Amino acid sequence: MGDGQSIPGSSALLDAFALTGKVALVTGSGRGLGWGMARFAAQAGAHVVLNGRDEAALRARAEELRSESLAASVAAFDVTDADAIAAGVRATVERCGHIDILVNNAGIQNRKPFHTYTPEEWRRIVGTHLDGAFLVTRAVVPHMLARRSGRIIMIGSIAGERVRGTITAYAAAKGALAALVRALAVELGPHGITCNGIAPGFFATDFTRTLQEDAAFNRYISERVPLGRWGRPEELGPAVVYLASSAGAFVNGHILTIDGGLVAAA
Ligand SMILES: NC(=O)c1ccc[n+]([C@@H]2O[C@H](COP(=O)([O-])OP(=O)(O)OC[C@H]3O[C@@H](n4cnc5c(N)ncnc54)[C@H](O)[C@@H]3O)[C@@H](O)[C@H]2O)c1
Repeated sequence: MGDGQSIPGSSALLDAFALTGKVALVTGSGRGLGWGMARFAAQAGAHVVLNGRDEAALRARAEELRSESLAASVAAFDVTDADAIAAGVRATVERCGHIDILVNNAGIQNRKPFHTYTPEEWRRIVGTHLDGAFLVTRAVVPHMLARRSGRIIMIGSIAGERVRGTITAYAAAKGALAALVRALAVELGPHGITCNGIAPGFFATDFTRTLQEDAAFNRYISERVPLGRWGRPEELGPAVVYLASSAGAFVNGHILTIDGGLVAAA
């Protein structure tokens, strides 16, 4: 608190949300929402493993965290490449000993009318979001099963249930990801592993750059989002810490919408 006083019971509070000693692999965490979540998890005490395809950029990001006395390392791989994932997960477990938290966040977008998608374009979107989450989770789960403990968090989207035009492949993949959250929660829960999802609304990242530059879309955001603004990349981190910490121990199979109220609005 600003006046130098501490919150009564603050040590219990901090214990409940602390990620001290935990290792968190966050895919697609070189920028945007992934970076925001990884940074906040590191601030909560986790050793975060940054992932993406540009190893040099990830190393610079990890250095940025270490310069703040936070714990971070890098596992560069493409989430659609099963061999590279296996190597990256193996190297992470050798280096860190275990992986406690997996955040499947890597994603891409391709806005175009449904009938103009080529099969390759369709597969690229679904392959990154859905197959990517399958492949990375499949590689990590055996290590969680061995310890009878783990937290898996899928970054879905409100597009999994509410959609504007020209994002059919993306919406299909995110809807499927929500189903995967529930299926994994049921299958892995008995083994001490939870699986939950976060469904973000519209956040200001590179992903939504063209929408941010569109005056009509900005009007839509200010008129239709009850909080009247874009989400900020750092606003997902606290949810990840909740779902990954002992505070969220009994949350399983849930999709947490973080959208400023957009889905709730009539
Ligand atoms: N920004 C939003 O408004 C919004 C809304 C809902 C959901 N999401 C979801 O959040 C996630 C992150 O989005 P963002 O806004 O930070 O986007 P972003 O484009 O800023 O970041 C995406 C990251 O994923 C990485 N990535 C993409 N393909 C990859 C691959 N094959 N292997 C490894 N890394 C890969 C990119 O390099 C990048 O670092 C995505 O899954 C996206 O669908 C974003």
